[in-house]
Amino acid sequence: MATLLVTGGAGYIGSHTAVALLEAGHRVVSLDNYSNSSPLALERVQRIAGRPLTAVEGDVRDAALLARLFAGHAFDGVIHFAALKAVGESVAQPLAYYENNVGGTLSLLRAMDTAGVRRFVFSSSATVYGAPDLLPITEQAPVRTTNPYGATKAMVEQVLRDLAAADDRWSVVSLRYFNPIGAHPSGEIGEDPNDIPNNLFPFICQVAAGRREQLAVFGDDWPTPDGTGVRDYLHVVDLAAGHLRAFEFVQRHAGMVPVNLGTGRGVSVLQLVRAFEAATGQPIAYRIVGRRPGDIAECWADPTSAERLLGWRAEFGVERACADGWRWQRRNPDGYRTKGGIT
Ligand code: NAD
Ligand code: UFG
Repeated sequence: MATLLVTGGAGYIGSHTAVALLEAGHRVVSLDNYSNSSPLALERVQRIAGRPLTAVEGDVRDAALLARLFAGHAFDGVIHFAALKAVGESVAQPLAYYENNVGGTLSLLRAMDTAGVRRFVFSSSATVYGAPDLLPITEQAPVRTTNPYGATKAMVEQVLRDLAAADDRWSVVSLRYFNPIGAHPSGEIGEDPNDIPNNLFPFICQVAAGRREQLAVFGDDWPTPDGTGVRDYLHVVDLAAGHLRAFEFVQRHAGMVPVNLGTGRGVSVLQLVRAFEAATGQPIAYRIVGRRPGDIAECWADPTSAERLLGWRAEFGVERACADGWRWQRRNPDGYRTKGGIT
């Protein structure tokens, strides 16, 4: 049994990973400032797993708090989710993104180094590949980012590579997620976007729930089989399991390695809409509009490194992710703000 610091543990992916870690018997300390989440998520994590965790409210940029945390717990490793993640917002507020995502990670790595804790699993993103030349995308594809959010992920990866090269006691996996969707099958935790969702899956859920009239499909003139954008949608429960495997990997290996987490399958916008309708019986009204600036046509992973290095592969398809995501949405129409909680 290990003790892990999970930053951003109350967030969408962090909460699902906390369940996976607790269910595997590990101890979890979550550090979250709740800037994009609710402490209620952590109560539900404990209910699902049937085990307690330690929830600390605070910021990863707070060096004094980190020093106290590392002094108070014998951590075996850190899984670092805490970051800002909205691409459009990062273009408008680059300083906030560099401060939080790069500055926050530097402060965390410094505290880890001082405490002698050097096992690190980082939340990176397929966004570091920009518009790929070749599909499927391997980890050898060039890194070229197109917005400040993506740049923060690429910069942190560079820091991690340099750190591991300088000191062979560091052991780091940078997980490049493709498109996480869905929710825990209990319907108790899931994605809870503030405002109008930027991403396709939560938008579809809100159309199904009657919160939005229709989905705007951003272009049907892409060079793809049905003209709509193609992505690699990955069930968040599979993604969470990938973090457990990555933590096991950093316990046994030194160095820094980037690893794609995706299914290896491309699914178009219209295919995802149809899968959602088939899995839930809910019709999704949509209309085709112009392309969204900055979008790419197609993006899916070569997930073979994840299988070879981590012994991980995605188990669930999009139908299962749609059914699970809809259960969360139906029971919590207003996310963690829903009055009376789940029904
Ligand atoms: P999320 O916003 O739900 O979770 C992030 C959590 O970190 C939130 O609970 C937030 O309150 C917390 N946080 C933010 N800044 C903090 C700070 N300075 N100190 C302490 N806590 C802080 O997002 P998510 O979807 O769960 O994403 C988790 C990670 O995965 C992020 O690093 C994100 O960039 C990355 N990622 C997400 C996706 C995706 O599509 N969801 C894709 C690729 C990568
Ligand atoms: N789309 C629509 N309508 C919408 C929202 C999205 O048609 O209302 C389309 C997009 O054009 C794209 C596909 O649905 O073709 C997926 O879009 P998302 O916004 O859900 O996901 P992206 O692949 O654009 O980006 C996401 C995250 C990024 C991350 C990237 C890779 O937002 O932060 O996945 O992990 F970097």
